Amino acid sequence: MSKEKIDPKRLPKHIAIIMDGNGRWAKEKGKFRIFGHQNGVKAVREVSEGCAELGVECLTLYAFSTENWNRPKIEVNALMTLLVKTIKGETATLMKNGIKLDAIGDRNTLPKDCRRELEEAIETTKGNSKMTLILALSYSAKWDIVNAARTIAQMAANGEITIDEVNEELIDKTLTTHKYPHPELMIRTSGELRISNFLLWEIAYSELYFTTVLWPDFRKEHLYEAILDYQSRERRFGKTSEQLA
Ligand code: IPE
Ligand code: IPE
Ligand code: MG
Repeated sequence: MSKEKIDPKRLPKHIAIIMDGNGRWAKEKGKFRIFGHQNGVKAVREVSEGCAELGVECLTLYAFSTENWNRPKIEVNALMTLLVKTIKGETATLMKNGIKLDAIGDRNTLPKDCRRELEEAIETTKGNSKMTLILALSYSAKWDIVNAARTIAQMAANGEITIDEVNEELIDKTLTTHKYPHPELMIRTSGELRISNFLLWEIAYSELYFTTVLWPDFRKEHLYEAILDYQSRERRFGKTSEQLA
């Protein structure tokens, strides 16, 4: 089994996943797209548990993008309903596994009941410390960067900072992802080779891993494969191999 081959000392602290392929998974089975989303919940459970067991500190899951609001209303509504149900249903499991829930994205655009469930679950799990599960909901990286730019511009206009003080560190601190380290590993399922407006700033030096597995079929075994692949890579950060040795 590949789990034993993972070096626990070289684990990524933060893994980010673009959970993709639910619609195609359902279509393959002659079902409606929402059936795929429903079956994606099992993969979320597996991966969260898998990361927590290994000792990964943060897991960010791209659950709904700013652009996903443009899907047919019936699918958007079904996704929001599923979200409320899942958050409600999974809080006990999060408690059992010591997982703290957090969210990034524009909460104001979420339906009221969805936002309430989310905030309740965040509150209930806030004392957990084994791992943080961050849901990207109504999130896009450009949305976050635009907001950060506005905040920084306002600080400059108020005379709180000078232009020279605008640097990487300040931008990092102003993004909604500021509480967490940048992901060392980003995974995308379903064979699509793009980022789709996920964590653009934060993945500047992430290792990218693409698999053709559709999200509802993703299991711990696939997570281990991705981590092993990550551990086989040389992260040079602009330097030469010789410098690293
Ligand atoms: C990912 O699966 C889930 C969300 C984007 C909410 P998709 O719904 O994008 O599935 P495909 O890509 O159409 O197969
Ligand atoms: C990205 O998947 C968003 C989520 C996984 C939530 P999409 O399936 O919406 O991405 P595109 O539009 O095909 O790039
Ligand atoms: Mg998709």
